[in-house]
Amino acid sequence: MRQVTVVEHLLLRQKERPMASGRFTRLLTELILSAKIIDREVSKAGLLDVLGATGEVNIQGEVVQKLDDFANQVIIRRMERAGVLCAMVSEENADFIGIPRQYPVGDYILIFDPLDGSANIDANVSIGTIFSIYRRTTFDQQAVSVGELLQKGSMQVAAGYIIYGSSTMMVYTAGNGVHGFTLDPSVGEFLLSHPDIKIPERGRIYSVNEGYFSYWDEPTRNIVNYFKSNDSATGRPYSSRYIGSLVSDFHRNLIYGGIFMYPADSRDLRKPSGKLRLMCEAAPMAMIAEQAGGLATDGKQRILDIEPQELHQRVPLFIGSKSDVEVVLKFYADAA
Ligand code: AHG
Ligand code: MN
Ligand code: MN
Ligand code: MN
Repeated sequence: MRQVTVVEHLLLRQKERPMASGRFTRLLTELILSAKIIDREVSKAGLLDVLGATGEVNIQGEVVQKLDDFANQVIIRRMERAGVLCAMVSEENADFIGIPRQYPVGDYILIFDPLDGSANIDANVSIGTIFSIYRRTTFDQQAVSVGELLQKGSMQVAAGYIIYGSSTMMVYTAGNGVHGFTLDPSVGEFLLSHPDIKIPERGRIYSVNEGYFSYWDEPTRNIVNYFKSNDSATGRPYSSRYIGSLVSDFHRNLIYGGIFMYPADSRDLRKPSGKLRLMCEAAPMAMIAEQAGGLATDGKQRILDIEPQELHQRVPLFIGSKSDVEVVLKFYADAA
């Protein structure tokens, strides 16, 4: 079998766009190297002194794990030197991250969740890294402002994730389908293993933290009850699968079909839109879902159409197989 690396795959596609400058390839190459370094640390976590918390609490109000911090530093330090970015936004940093003066600046913007699924780290359960890439829309030489970073998801140039699972995979889209690459640790390369991934039109899995049932509104409870109720024509009840790592829950549903939900809840009145972050979690996953033939909504609006108001904005998320997400849309529309 011919073994195609991520960059080879990208270059083959760029032949169709002769004006491509190679800067996007540079960005992706550096991101892949960061992922390999994070993977090395994650896979040996129990042997190194990298399990447990740092003692810090981040802008999200969450306890920062040592591996959250490590992954964040690896990505920032590598990507700031790549010469292709003008700014980065990380789940772990309150403000956006500029490019230090000594390095060249480019016009791409990288938004990322350095390590997704923190709560699973110490138990050796799959975790991930999520990335989202935009381009700067203004080309004057002014310093980047927050306003320029608040682009809606449909403006993404590319999006993807790395899953540190039973094998390590990178799944990404640059607007031309979704492609999956598996890390072959013996050669240190991600090799094409899942070309042109399509999510099944309807799934058999629903994924939600049902422990919060009593905090949901009526339509949300009805939605979850729908997927649990018996109806042979639509293959219900669906199976319940919930890991608590968005990357892993999403990836499983992408491959098998199904719906992932993180609805709004009334648990914490400071977070009325649920837990997940629009820019570093929901928007990149939404681009992948749509490119794979699925859908992503907050219940009313397409995730990719939401104009962010702030970097760490949260959003309810319903994402996955097309007809399963359509069920959600119908329940909310009927309740309105
Ligand atoms: P992160 O580890 O990057 O902060 O993200 C955690 C998120 C996401 O991965 C997962 O879907 C969700 O938290 C799980 O939250 P609950 O524990 O509330 O179910
Ligand atoms: Mn977190
Ligand atoms: Mn996350
Ligand atoms: Mn995270």
